[in-house]
Parts: sequence; C-alpha cells; structure tokens
Amino acid sequence: MYPASEVVDAFRLMQQSGHIGKIVIRPAAVPNAVETAADFTFDPTRTHLVTGGFGGFGLEAARWLADRGVRHLVLTGRAGAASPEAKAVVADLAERGVAVKAVACDVTDERAVAALLDDVRATMPPISGIMHAAMVLDDAMVANVTAEQFANVLVPKVTGARHLDRLTRGDSLDYFVLFSSITTFVGNPGQAAYVAANGYLEGLAKARRRQGLPALALAWGAISDVGVLARQKGLAEALAKRVGVKAMPAREALDLMVQALSRPGTEPDDAVLAVGSLDWSAAKRLPALSSPTFAALVREGGTIETSERETIDLRALAASGDPEGVRKQVIDVIVEEIATVLRVPKQDISVGKRLGEVGLDSLMAIELATALQERFQLGAPPSGSVATLTVTGLAEHVITTVHAATPDDETRVTQALHERHGSEAVDMDAVTPVLEAVQKKGRELKGLLQ
Ligand SMILES: NC(=O)c1ccc[n+]([C@@H]2O[C@H](COP(=O)([O-])OP(=O)(O)OC[C@H]3O[C@@H](n4cnc5c(N)ncnc54)[C@H](OP(=O)(O)O)[C@@H]3O)[C@@H](O)[C@H]2O)c1
Repeated sequence: MYPASEVVDAFRLMQQSGHIGKIVIRPAAVPNAVETAADFTFDPTRTHLVTGGFGGFGLEAARWLADRGVRHLVLTGRAGAASPEAKAVVADLAERGVAVKAVACDVTDERAVAALLDDVRATMPPISGIMHAAMVLDDAMVANVTAEQFANVLVPKVTGARHLDRLTRGDSLDYFVLFSSITTFVGNPGQAAYVAANGYLEGLAKARRRQGLPALALAWGAISDVGVLARQKGLAEALAKRVGVKAMPAREALDLMVQALSRPGTEPDDAVLAVGSLDWSAAKRLPALSSPTFAALVREGGTIETSERETIDLRALAASGDPEGVRKQVIDVIVEEIATVLRVPKQDISVGKRLGEVGLDSLMAIELATALQERFQLGAPPSGSVATLTVTGLAEHVITTVHAATPDDETRVTQALHERHGSEAVDMDAVTPVLEAVQKKGRELKGLLQ
C-alpha cells in the first residue's frame, strides 16, 4: 500500500514488475483534520515583518496580526507610512502597545533590506515571520506590454522575495508567507506580468519547502474591503464579470491563512494554496478553465445565466460577400461592448472619436479587447493600442485581422497542434504578434532581472 504522495514509486515498482499481486494507492486524505488541528499562533514575543505593509492588504494584515496578539511589527514600503491611513494605523497600533517600526525600504534594494534586517535583529526581538505583500500593478495586454511595465510588476515581487529568502536564512522563522494571486490558477487577460511574478513566488515557496524551510504562497482571490480592488471598483466589477472572481473581506482571507499555516502539509506542492471565491460559471470563459483540472468545478458551476451575448463567427460573416454589411455589424458589436464597458447608452458612443477620448482607460481597453475576443471568437484579443483607435478604425482592424489570416505551413502545423490540444479556433494573425512580443519580452527581461 502506497500513500498518494508516493504514487511515482508505486508506478516505478509496477514498471519493474517488482510486486506480487496488487499495488494499492491510498487516496490523499481529505483534511478532516480541519476541526481538530490547533491553530497556528503568531508569537507575541517575537518580531513580524510585512513588506507592502502600508498598502491596503498589508496594512490590514498588520492590524489583524496585532489583534492576534503580535506586539512587535516591522512594516515597509518604498514611501514609508506616507498616506494618512497608514499614519493613522501606525499611531493606533502604538497606542495599543504594539512596537511598530515603520520604515521606508525598497524591498528590491538588497543593501537596504540587509540593513533593515540587521537593524531589526539589533533593536527588536528575533524575527518570527515574514509576509511579502509588496506589489506594483501595471496591466496591459501581452502584445502591448513594454519591458518597463513587465519589470515594474516582476521586480518587487520576484527580486524582493529573493532578497527576503536569502537574507533570512540564518533566522529561525516560524512562517514565510508570500502574497500571490488566484490569477496564477485561472489567468487574467492583461495580467501576464503579474501572473508571472506570482508564479515565481509560488515556485520559491515550493523550493523552500523542499529545503525544509517554512514557506506558504497564498494565491488570494479578490479582496473586497482594502487594497487595489477596493480602490478600483471598476476593475473589481470587471474581474467579477469576466473572470468570476468574487471578493472577500481581508480578515476572512487572513483567517483562512491561519488554517493553511496550521496544517502546512508535507509535500512541496502544499506550499501553494489558492484562497478565494469564484463564480465558476462566469470563470469558465477563461481559457485555463477548459483544462481537465477544473472540469468538476466548472460542471458544478452550471451555465452562465447572465445576459450572455451572441457570438459572431467573423470568418463566416466575412465570407458572405457583403463587406458593408460586415462592417456595420462589427461596428454595432464594438459600440455595444464599449457602452457596456463605459456604462453609458449606446447612442452616446461616437464612432469617429478615438476611444481614449470617449473615456476608455487602459484597464477598460483590456476589458474591451477581451470582450471582442469573446464576441468575435478570436484566438486572441485584438492587438495594438485599442484606445488610440476610433470605433471604425477598430472595426477595420478586427476585419483585416480575420481576412489576413491565410495559414502558411508553420501556421497549419500550429493549428493542427492546437486542434489536438485545445478547442477554440486559432486566429494566427492575432496570435503571432503575441508570441513575438513574449519572445521579445523574454530577451529584454533577462537583462532587467540582473
Ligand atoms: N487586493 C487584492 O484584491 C489582492 C488580490 C490578490 C492578491 N493580492 C496581493 O496582496 C498584496 C497586496 O495587495 P494590495 O491590494 O494591498 O496592494 P497595494 O494596496 O497596492 O499595496 C502594495 C504595497 O506595496 C508597496 N510596494 C510596492 N513596491 C515596493 C517595493 N519595491 N518595496 C516595498 N514596498 C513596495 C507599495 O507601497 P510603496 O508604493 O510606498 O512602495 C504599496 O503600499 C499583493 O502582493 C497582491 O498581489 C491582493
């Protein structure tokens, strides 16, 4: 009998015919230990460090730690406790008897982090744990994202985590928590760099576990009351609609973190946990959700009951021999989607104005591009800077993209592969610039990430 965690050994034995009779693999136990295991406690006599500790989620985590008895806190951000809210929370914590070191420290600056840790070791009790919550968001469709945008997002998470990992190896930590995002599981259009950055954190957590070090990467879903989504309601609504992410209060999420810390598991993979709430019926629009991993959840989620819009087979339409009719229909759909994104009546959309001028910002442009991909069943969202186009310009762009897709040999091979492994039709004209951009970013990033 083999436990599920040793399934590879079981198959090896079978491969080598080293067994007599049957090999039994015991399924991984469903954690009914949830009710019984003692809760992880945050040591009140030692020091707890939160990077991004003046941001929404980090600051709430600091208050929550204090509510759990923590009496020695180090909070860091590049600007320090600069916002009125951060100042108020730090003052409140101090009033409650918590010793708070509120520091302006850039977690990507190795020397600054080393100096901060030395100072903490010299002036405060030993370090018990770290929460790495620092982040910068700079969303853009992968075909448009610049190397700087990629680096802006990657470096605070990746380089920051590397410094914290390396520079605390000599400290006997109780926990090392990396704040990731559920987008590493389900994807999110416009967040390639963010997903990559969080993917690194999750890999680091597993690597630390393999080395016997504490580590937990939490792939949070949306947080409702603090942080970036609480500040950008439009983004939160778009995520709920397009990705099916339902927001939960920060404290509810942090309480779930305690469960994860209390039952850390035994495998390196246990170092990564998604904590979030998803509407699986809405989330199934995401390409990642068509993988077998999510099959059961997506089935349970049922059908999309919201006003699902009609999709249009643009290729078939384009072959109809009525270019003017095609153009009109494409324009109608684009106007409808812009009106939805901007939450204005359709008749308010001027087809001759640049979309940036009618109020479409970069996040809305991502939402529009994704909606158009869905409506026109494109393999990828329209590439290029959508906000600089007019409605008619964007319609031409979409139509030309579909017309121009005449597969060459390489494309046919790629399409054949895709047909074997995926279900959607590939719009190679849209995909090619994306692939080229990814390759280019990869080359540029090698230089930027030291
Ligand atoms: N909010 C959510 O819904 C949500 C969902 C999933 C995951 N998360 C994760 O939770 C964490 C916090 O998110 P949030 O919503 O609280 O974001 P936030 O409010 O934007 O806070 C992020 C903080 O990170 C700090 N920071 C950025 N670069 C830094 C650097 N180089 N060194 C030190 N600090 C730096 C920023 O302060 P300065 O600009 O002063 O440096 C900022 O206060 C992130 O890791 C995010 O991925 C959040």
